[in-house]
This record gives sequence, C-alpha cells and structure tokens, in this order.
Amino acid sequence: MKQYDFDTPIDRRGTDCFKWDALQGMYGRDDLTPMWVADMDWRSPDFVIDALKQRLDHPVLGYTMPSEGYWQAATSWLAKHYNVHTTKESLHFIPGIVAGISYALLCLTQPGDKVLVTTPVYPPFLNVPKGCGRDVVCSPLKIENGRFEIDFDDFERKADGCKVFIMSNPHNPAGTLWGKETLSRIAEICERKCILVISDEIHADLTLPGGKHVSYSTMSDAAACHSITFMAPSKTFNIAGLGSSVCYIGDEALRKRFFGWLDALGVAGGNIFAFVAAEAAFAQGAEWQRQMLDYLHENVHTLHTFLKERLPMVRVVLPEASYLAWLDFSAYGIPHKELADRLVNKARVVLNDGTTFGGDDYECCFRLNIGCPRSQMLDVLGRIADCLS
Ligand SMILES: Cc1ncc(COP(=O)(O)O)c(C=O)c1O
Repeated sequence: MKQYDFDTPIDRRGTDCFKWDALQGMYGRDDLTPMWVADMDWRSPDFVIDALKQRLDHPVLGYTMPSEGYWQAATSWLAKHYNVHTTKESLHFIPGIVAGISYALLCLTQPGDKVLVTTPVYPPFLNVPKGCGRDVVCSPLKIENGRFEIDFDDFERKADGCKVFIMSNPHNPAGTLWGKETLSRIAEICERKCILVISDEIHADLTLPGGKHVSYSTMSDAAACHSITFMAPSKTFNIAGLGSSVCYIGDEALRKRFFGWLDALGVAGGNIFAFVAAEAAFAQGAEWQRQMLDYLHENVHTLHTFLKERLPMVRVVLPEASYLAWLDFSAYGIPHKELADRLVNKARVVLNDGTTFGGDDYECCFRLNIGCPRSQMLDVLGRIADCLS
C-alpha cells in the first residue's frame, strides 16, 4: 500500500495561489506564512494529477459533459460515506458552493427576504445574501465544553419570518459536527416555519477519526424535501482551484425549479478538468483520504498540546472535521487592532480575522488553518507564542 507524504513542504509561491501569492499585495511583505484561506499546503493526490495529465494527452479541449463514470463515482461516494442515495437526475454539477448558494438565493427567494445563519460563520454566508439583496439574521452560537452549540431559544426566535437557513454542516470556522439531535431540532423548526435549509457539506469528507458526519437530508423525509445539499471533493482532495461541486435535492418539485434555473444559466456544462478530477478523486481517493485524515488528526492533537503548554490563555474550539481551529485571545486583554498587528508584523503569520465571521463580538478571535506540514504549523505556533509574551 502506498504511503502518502504530507510532511514535505511544497513551495506554492509563484503559482498564483490565493493563500500565498495574495499576501504581498495585501500586506506589502513577502515573509508571511499564510494560515488562512481554506486549502491545504500538501500536494493534491497523484491519481488526480495523473488523470488530468492523461486527459491532456488528447489535443482537443472542446465542449464537454459529465461522463457516466463521473456520475457513478459521485453517487457511490455519497451513498457509501453518507447514506445519501442519489441518481444523476437528483444531482447537479455546480462550479462552486459559494456560487451555488447565491444561485439558490436568487432563484428561490425575493429581495428583502430574511436569511438565517449561525455565527461565527464562513464569511460568504453573510456577504452572499447581502450581495443578493437579502437580509441576514444572525443567531450566535454558544461555546459549551469547548465546542460550538446552537442556542435553540435564540435560533427559534430568530427563525421567525426567515425564508432560508444556510447551515455549514460541519460548521466552519471550527469544523463542528452537528449530531443527529441538533439536526433533528433544526429540521423540526424549519419544517414548522416553512424555511428552506441550504446545507453546505463541503467539509463533511474531512471528518476526523472518531467523528461521524450526518448529512442533513438523511434526518427525515421532511428534511430531505425542504433542503438543498452542497458537497464537493474540493476541500477533501485539495482541488478547490478546479471548481467542482455537486448539489443534491430530494424533492422533485424543488429540484425541477432550481435545476431548471441552473440550466437556464448555462452552468451545467462544467469544465473538463472539474469532471476528470472529481471522478478520479471519488473513484480512487478513499485510501489517500484516510491517510490524510490521520495526519490531520495528529496535527489537531499537536496543536492542542502546544496550546496547553505555551498558550494556555487561548480558548480554542478544535476541529472535529476540517483543518480549521477557532482561537480566542480575549484573555490576553490586547485590543483587536494591536493583536492583529502583532500577528502579522511580529509573528509574521496571516490568520482569518474573527470579525469577518460575524462582527465585533469576535474581535479577539482568529481562525487558524492547520492543513499543512506539521513543521510549518509548529513554526507558526512558536512565533505566535513569542509575539504574545
Ligand atoms: C463552508 C464552506 N463553504 C464553501 C466554501 C467554498 O466553496 P467553493 O470553493 O466551492 O465555492 C468553503 C471554503 O472555505 C467553506 O468553508
């Protein structure tokens, strides 16, 4: 069995990758280590790269379509991993999930409609509805026993009058797995209040050993009918630059309406590389995924140990799925501006600023991406600890 390498650092600079190459323009420095944008710093799997190379052996790159092999690989992956039973008719190709969420809002809601989210949350959940002219209603999460939980009293109140709930399942910014009990309460409330649930499950495949992802649509027939689920191989296999996602809808009427709209927009055509890469990833990726998650799990343990030893005042929400950790530096009593400045200019590290996940309540929080070689993570953590001492 092949042993995959997640330890060797790869220099991504000069590839126009957003995570590394945007920093010079943003901060005017070239000595920063980016631990922000949610992709990973290890190589995309060989079997994906090889499939792309093989396709490039043919000299014509004309209009394309998803192959039977693509649908087979995608439907088998969803059935095997999440008990989500789909056909190519109940799935639709989507070039990206952020785009998919905006398509759904534009197609299925009206300007001024209220969209519920639970904060802190992946910033596009706030910006996309606003950009589409919808009103965002935020229900803040609670932290209990070191993990995010939904405050259902607040959620129930805020849900009144909302047309859509956009859920990150697992939840970004800390890869929180929503268990069956939480999901069934959401399903009950959303069914009762006629709220469409958009379940963004892009991080599902990054569920760490010992955890279990529950796909929202599997909670009940009602949940399957009042929801749209987005999934993708992009985070799992580090192929986000290829723009390859899928959308699943259980309800036939909703499916016809949304998929018909997508077809009218002309996004179903996809692109050659998205289909080829996704098929290779879903068909051949299980072992790579297993080894990657073991490595990531070890990064999470190492992070936890480091924080206990060197940064005990940091309050952390560790990922149960994904490579994202939520760090709260409030106990240091450093004002937001100074903290942000120290991290960039002293520690030379770029994290995601908590305020972008839901406003001033999170100004002492930062999201850390540990999808990288352990040596890089430890180097950065050492610099963070030094800049706070
Ligand atoms: C919850 C969530 N949804 C969507 C995305 C982005 O998806 P896409 O690149 O397919 O638009 C991310 C990326 O970080 C994410 O964390």
